[in-house]
Formats: sequence, C-alpha cells, structure tokens
Amino acid sequence: MPVLHGVQEALGHVPQQAVAQIAQALNLSRAEVHGVLTYYHHFRSEPPKGPVLQVCRAEACRSVGGEQLLSHAQHCGAHCEVEPVYCLGLCAMAPAVMLEGQPYGRMSSAKLDELLDDVGGAR
Ligand code: FES
Repeated sequence: MPVLHGVQEALGHVPQQAVAQIAQALNLSRAEVHGVLTYYHHFRSEPPKGPVLQVCRAEACRSVGGEQLLSHAQHCGAHCEVEPVYCLGLCAMAPAVMLEGQPYGRMSSAKLDELLDDVGGAR
C-alpha cells in the first residue's frame, strides 16, 4: 500500500507498467498487486482529467449536507475529477472536501464554487 500511495502521489496515478515492477520489487505476483490496486477506489490507473476533488460521504459529513455538496460538485460544471470518499479525518469540520490534497472543512456549495474558481480553470 505505501508503495502504491507513493507512486500515485508522484505520478497522479499508478500506471499499468508499474505493476510488474512493484510486484518484482516486493516479491509479490502481479495479480496480488493488481488486486490491491483495483480493490481500493482511491488508486487510479489513468491520470486524472483535472484537479482531483474528494467529497466526504461518511456519516458526520452526510448529516450536515455532504450528499448535497457531492451532488453540487458533480453538476456544477467543474473541470475536475470528483471522487466520493469515506472520511477525510475532518469530521468536526463537516462537511469536508479535499482538493488536490488540501483539506477544507465547513464547506458549502458557495464556498466550493469559490474554491474551484481559485484552482484556475477548474470551473
Ligand atoms: S465524516 Fe467526513 S471527514 Fe469524517
């Protein structure tokens, strides 16, 4: 997992070509690495098509509008890749999102629009 996280952090995704190299380096089969890679939605095998916006769907965020925020993010015309996630560790500041690895709490649709406007071309 740490290797896959590292590759994705460095490249934005885990290319298929890297699977064999990772498997060999860790003395695992390619199937084992591929299995982990495809099991967790966090890992991407293709580069993202723009800034990555993660929107929390877990309970604390859901109870204060997280689902509406996700729907807004998916339909506001943002040119970013919207990923639903389950807890960003910002439960006390729900609803929470993470944009390009930067967490934001107490988010609203209006604040999200501002945030996406600031990301230069995300909207
Ligand atoms: S439930 Fe959303 S950050 Fe924890």
